Amino acid sequence: MDTTPAYPTLRIVSHPLVQHKLTILRDRTTPTKIFKELVDEIAMLMAYEATADLAIEDAPVETPLERTMGHRVAGKKLTLVPILRAGLGMVEGVARLVPAARVGHIGLYRDHDTLEPVDYYFKVPSDATERDFFLLDPMLATGGSAAAAVASLKRAGATRIRFLCLVAAPQGVERLAEAHPDVTVYCASLDRELNEVGYILPGLGDAGDRLFGTR
Ligand code: PRP
Ligand code: URA
Repeated sequence: MDTTPAYPTLRIVSHPLVQHKLTILRDRTTPTKIFKELVDEIAMLMAYEATADLAIEDAPVETPLERTMGHRVAGKKLTLVPILRAGLGMVEGVARLVPAARVGHIGLYRDHDTLEPVDYYFKVPSDATERDFFLLDPMLATGGSAAAAVASLKRAGATRIRFLCLVAAPQGVERLAEAHPDVTVYCASLDRELNEVGYILPGLGDAGDRLFGTR
């Protein structure tokens, strides 16, 4: 995992498999079915990295031969929260590694003219103060959606939040870090910039449309 001094909240998952899969994801000719499978696989690989610092505790276990001391993730109150729609594509991949995780949902879309997020749905487990949240969205562009989603989670009581995305723009990383410096951002790539209508360059296009075939 790479860090960069310019963006202290950012972790870039540079694993060769992630980078290989991301390149296929970017390809404009990749069809919806493959796109969906790749988002799922990259999300799973990123979850492996983003859970590397979870606390563990001792756990006694009886093997077929003897009793020994093992380990388990302490607390276990993990919660995945996809930002609708595109974040949905990341849920199953992450859940494969943490099957006991609960799943909340945040509904947000970007207004096409202002690029500001408009929220339409919010549901997370009621014991939010005790939980570790993994907010999921493939794209961190202006950062408006991510910052609003984190603010909603905090209003519900969340204190430990990580943000997992596939592609991030510098502007989005900066905006999220300014609003929520406590949130670590995991991405597969820090891309160059945003274009004049808020799309990430080089990016991968509209993640929701490519995932759900609504282009
Ligand atoms: C996309 C993406 C993020 C948001 C990122 O969603 O999935 O949620 O844009 O942009 P931002 O960082 O500038 O806020 P979109 O609004 O297109 O909605 P959709 O997932 O329903 O297609
Ligand atoms: N949302 C997307 O789906 N893609 C972008 O490049 C920016 C925002």
